[in-house]
Amino acid sequence: MKLTWLGHSCVLLSGSKKVLIDPFIDGGSVTGTQPDIVAVTHGHYDHLGEAVALGKTTVASTEIAKYLKTKGVPAEGMGIGGTILVDGVSFTMTPALHSSSVEDGGAILYGGLAAGYVVGMDGVRVYHAGDTALFSDMKLIGDLYHPDVALLPIGGRYTMGVAEAMIAANFIGAKTVIPIHYNTFERIAADPEIFRKSIERTTDMNVSVLQPGGSVEIKS
Ligand code: NI
Ligand code: MN
Repeated sequence: MKLTWLGHSCVLLSGSKKVLIDPFIDGGSVTGTQPDIVAVTHGHYDHLGEAVALGKTTVASTEIAKYLKTKGVPAEGMGIGGTILVDGVSFTMTPALHSSSVEDGGAILYGGLAAGYVVGMDGVRVYHAGDTALFSDMKLIGDLYHPDVALLPIGGRYTMGVAEAMIAANFIGAKTVIPIHYNTFERIAADPEIFRKSIERTTDMNVSVLQPGGSVEIKS
Protein backbone atom coordinates (compact mmCIF):
# COMPACT_ATOMS: atom_id res chain seq x y z
CA MET A 1 0.00 0.00 0.00
CA LYS A 2 1.22 3.47 -0.87
CA LEU A 3 0.59 6.19 1.70
CA THR A 4 0.68 9.79 0.50
CA TRP A 5 0.56 12.77 2.85
CA LEU A 6 -1.17 15.53 0.90
CA GLY A 7 -0.65 18.03 3.73
CA HIS A 8 -2.19 18.97 7.09
CA SER A 9 -4.26 15.93 8.19
CA CYS A 10 -5.04 14.69 4.67
CA VAL A 11 -3.72 11.25 3.74
CA LEU A 12 -4.36 9.14 0.65
CA LEU A 13 -4.01 5.36 0.94
CA SER A 14 -3.59 3.69 -2.45
CA GLY A 15 -3.96 -0.07 -2.68
CA SER A 16 -6.78 -2.23 -3.99
CA LYS A 17 -8.90 0.87 -3.24
CA LYS A 18 -8.08 4.56 -2.85
CA VAL A 19 -8.99 5.85 0.59
CA LEU A 20 -8.77 9.56 1.37
CA ILE A 21 -8.76 10.60 5.04
CA ASP A 22 -9.64 14.17 6.12
CA PRO A 23 -9.92 15.72 2.62
CA PHE A 24 -8.57 19.20 3.30
CA ILE A 25 -5.36 20.94 2.25
CA ASP A 26 -4.59 24.61 2.79
CA GLY A 27 -5.04 26.74 -0.30
CA GLY A 28 -5.68 23.86 -2.69
CA SER A 29 -8.03 21.05 -3.60
CA VAL A 30 -7.90 17.29 -3.21
CA THR A 31 -10.83 16.49 -5.49
CA GLY A 32 -8.37 15.41 -8.20
CA THR A 33 -7.29 12.41 -6.10
CA GLN A 34 -10.53 10.61 -7.09
CA PRO A 35 -10.79 8.33 -4.06
CA ASP A 36 -13.15 5.35 -3.83
CA ILE A 37 -13.84 6.00 -0.14
CA VAL A 38 -13.45 9.08 2.07
CA ALA A 39 -13.12 9.03 5.87
CA VAL A 40 -13.60 12.07 8.09
CA THR A 41 -12.28 12.11 11.67
CA HIS A 42 -14.42 15.03 12.88
CA GLY A 43 -16.43 18.01 11.68
CA HIS A 44 -13.91 20.85 11.84
CA TYR A 45 -13.42 22.52 8.47
CA ASP A 46 -9.77 21.46 8.22
CA HIS A 47 -10.90 17.78 8.31
CA LEU A 48 -14.39 17.66 6.79
CA GLY A 49 -12.82 19.71 4.02
CA GLU A 50 -14.08 18.80 0.56
CA ALA A 51 -16.12 15.75 1.60
CA VAL A 52 -19.29 17.26 0.10
CA ALA A 53 -17.59 18.26 -3.16
CA LEU A 54 -16.03 14.79 -3.50
CA GLY A 55 -19.43 13.15 -3.05
CA LYS A 56 -17.97 9.67 -2.49
CA THR A 57 -18.97 7.12 0.11
CA THR A 58 -17.81 8.81 3.31
CA VAL A 59 -17.15 7.12 6.65
CA ALA A 60 -17.88 9.42 9.58
CA SER A 61 -19.59 9.68 12.97
CA THR A 62 -23.34 9.02 12.80
CA GLU A 63 -23.96 12.76 13.27
CA ILE A 64 -21.63 13.87 10.49
CA ALA A 65 -22.92 11.07 8.26
CA LYS A 66 -26.45 12.42 8.72
CA TYR A 67 -25.22 15.92 7.86
CA LEU A 68 -23.47 14.62 4.74
CA LYS A 69 -26.60 12.75 3.62
CA THR A 70 -28.53 16.04 3.74
CA LYS A 71 -25.93 17.29 1.22
CA GLY A 72 -26.41 14.26 -1.04
CA VAL A 73 -23.26 12.42 0.02
CA PRO A 74 -23.62 8.61 0.49
CA ALA A 75 -22.22 8.45 4.01
CA GLU A 76 -21.57 5.47 6.32
CA GLY A 77 -22.17 6.47 9.92
CA MET A 78 -20.44 4.65 12.77
CA GLY A 79 -19.42 5.06 16.39
CA ILE A 80 -16.22 4.85 18.41
CA GLY A 81 -15.17 1.25 19.07
CA GLY A 82 -17.00 -0.06 16.01
CA THR A 83 -15.60 -1.58 12.83
CA ILE A 84 -17.21 -1.56 9.39
CA LEU A 85 -16.22 -2.96 6.03
CA VAL A 86 -16.64 -0.74 2.97
CA ASP A 87 -15.70 -2.24 -0.40
CA GLY A 88 -13.31 -4.64 1.33
CA VAL A 89 -11.61 -1.90 3.37
CA SER A 90 -12.05 -2.02 7.16
CA PHE A 91 -12.55 1.09 9.26
CA THR A 92 -12.32 0.93 13.03
CA MET A 93 -13.28 4.18 14.73
CA THR A 94 -10.99 5.00 17.64
CA PRO A 95 -11.33 7.58 20.41
CA ALA A 96 -9.83 11.05 20.10
CA LEU A 97 -9.67 13.66 22.83
CA HIS A 98 -10.96 16.66 20.90
CA SER A 99 -14.23 18.39 19.92
CA SER A 100 -16.33 18.06 16.77
CA SER A 101 -18.81 20.40 15.12
CA VAL A 102 -19.80 21.34 11.60
CA GLU A 103 -20.11 24.96 10.51
CA ASP A 104 -22.93 25.37 8.02
CA GLY A 105 -24.23 28.76 6.91
CA GLY A 106 -23.05 30.48 10.10
CA ALA A 107 -24.62 27.84 12.35
CA ILE A 108 -22.56 25.42 14.41
CA LEU A 109 -23.97 21.90 14.24
CA TYR A 110 -23.22 19.10 16.71
CA GLY A 111 -20.77 16.66 15.13
CA GLY A 112 -20.80 13.83 17.66
CA LEU A 113 -17.45 12.78 19.06
CA ALA A 114 -14.13 13.45 17.40
CA ALA A 115 -12.39 10.24 16.35
CA GLY A 116 -9.48 8.55 14.68
CA TYR A 117 -9.41 5.46 12.46
CA VAL A 118 -7.54 2.24 12.02
CA VAL A 119 -7.89 1.50 8.31
CA GLY A 120 -7.17 -2.03 7.13
CA MET A 121 -6.49 -2.69 3.45
CA ASP A 122 -4.39 -5.30 1.62
CA GLY A 123 -3.16 -6.71 4.94
CA VAL A 124 -1.81 -3.35 6.13
CA ARG A 125 -3.21 -1.35 9.04
CA VAL A 126 -2.90 2.41 9.26
CA TYR A 127 -3.82 4.36 12.39
CA HIS A 128 -4.81 7.98 11.72
CA ALA A 129 -5.21 9.67 15.11
CA GLY A 130 -7.26 12.64 13.86
CA ASP A 131 -7.00 15.70 16.09
CA THR A 132 -6.34 14.56 19.63
CA ALA A 133 -4.63 15.14 22.91
CA LEU A 134 -2.49 12.37 24.35
CA PHE A 135 -4.49 9.72 26.21
CA SER A 136 -3.23 6.50 27.72
CA ASP A 137 -5.87 4.31 26.03
CA MET A 138 -3.77 4.72 22.89
CA LYS A 139 -2.06 1.65 24.36
CA LEU A 140 -5.27 -0.27 23.62
CA ILE A 141 -5.15 0.81 19.98
CA GLY A 142 -1.70 -0.77 19.80
CA ASP A 143 -2.72 -3.90 21.73
CA LEU A 144 -5.94 -4.46 19.76
CA TYR A 145 -5.06 -3.47 16.21
CA HIS A 146 -1.25 -3.52 15.94
CA PRO A 147 -1.11 -0.80 13.28
CA ASP A 148 1.85 -0.89 10.89
CA VAL A 149 1.96 2.90 10.72
CA ALA A 150 0.72 5.68 13.00
CA LEU A 151 -0.15 9.15 11.74
CA LEU A 152 0.09 11.51 14.71
CA PRO A 153 -0.59 15.25 15.03
CA ILE A 154 2.39 17.19 16.42
CA GLY A 155 1.42 20.84 15.85
CA GLY A 156 0.20 21.63 19.37
CA ARG A 157 -2.41 24.23 20.35
CA TYR A 158 -5.38 22.10 19.19
CA THR A 159 -3.71 18.70 19.50
CA MET A 160 -0.65 16.95 20.86
CA GLY A 161 2.68 18.67 20.39
CA VAL A 162 6.00 16.94 19.81
CA ALA A 163 6.52 15.87 23.45
CA GLU A 164 3.07 14.32 23.79
CA ALA A 165 3.22 12.67 20.38
CA MET A 166 6.49 10.95 21.35
CA ILE A 167 4.67 9.23 24.21
CA ALA A 168 1.73 8.46 21.90
CA ALA A 169 4.10 6.77 19.44
CA ASN A 170 5.43 4.58 22.27
CA PHE A 171 1.91 3.69 23.43
CA ILE A 172 0.90 2.61 19.92
CA GLY A 173 4.12 0.88 18.95
CA ALA A 174 3.77 1.06 15.16
CA LYS A 175 6.98 0.41 13.22
CA THR A 176 6.54 3.61 11.25
CA VAL A 177 5.36 6.96 12.59
CA ILE A 178 4.42 9.90 10.39
CA PRO A 179 3.84 13.38 11.86
CA ILE A 180 0.81 15.34 10.58
CA HIS A 181 -1.18 18.47 11.47
CA TYR A 182 1.79 20.85 11.79
CA ASN A 183 3.15 23.92 9.96
CA THR A 184 -0.05 24.32 7.92
CA PHE A 185 -0.63 27.56 9.81
CA GLU A 186 1.62 29.64 12.07
CA ARG A 187 -0.46 28.56 15.09
CA ILE A 188 0.58 24.92 14.67
CA ALA A 189 4.27 25.43 13.96
CA ALA A 190 6.41 22.43 14.95
CA ASP A 191 9.77 20.91 14.03
CA PRO A 192 9.25 17.37 12.68
CA GLU A 193 13.01 16.72 12.71
CA ILE A 194 13.13 17.09 16.49
CA PHE A 195 10.27 14.58 16.64
CA ARG A 196 12.07 12.20 14.28
CA LYS A 197 15.47 12.38 15.98
CA SER A 198 14.00 12.01 19.47
CA ILE A 199 12.02 8.89 18.59
CA GLU A 200 14.72 7.27 16.49
CA ARG A 201 17.32 7.86 19.21
CA THR A 202 15.23 6.25 21.93
CA THR A 203 13.22 3.51 20.15
CA ASP A 204 13.29 1.02 17.24
CA MET A 205 10.57 2.97 15.43
CA ASN A 206 11.16 4.84 12.20
CA VAL A 207 9.76 8.30 11.62
CA SER A 208 8.99 9.29 8.03
CA VAL A 209 8.92 13.06 7.70
CA LEU A 210 7.13 13.67 4.42
CA GLN A 211 6.76 16.80 2.34
CA PRO A 212 3.18 17.55 1.25
CA GLY A 213 2.57 15.21 -1.69
CA GLY A 214 5.27 12.82 -0.50
CA SER A 215 4.71 9.07 -0.25
CA VAL A 216 5.96 6.00 1.53
CA GLU A 217 5.32 2.34 0.78
CA ILE A 218 3.82 0.57 3.80
CA LYS A 219 4.37 -3.17 4.23
CA SER A 220 2.63 -5.39 6.76
NI1 NI B 1 -10.14 19.78 14.98
MN1 MN C 1 -7.55 20.20 12.95
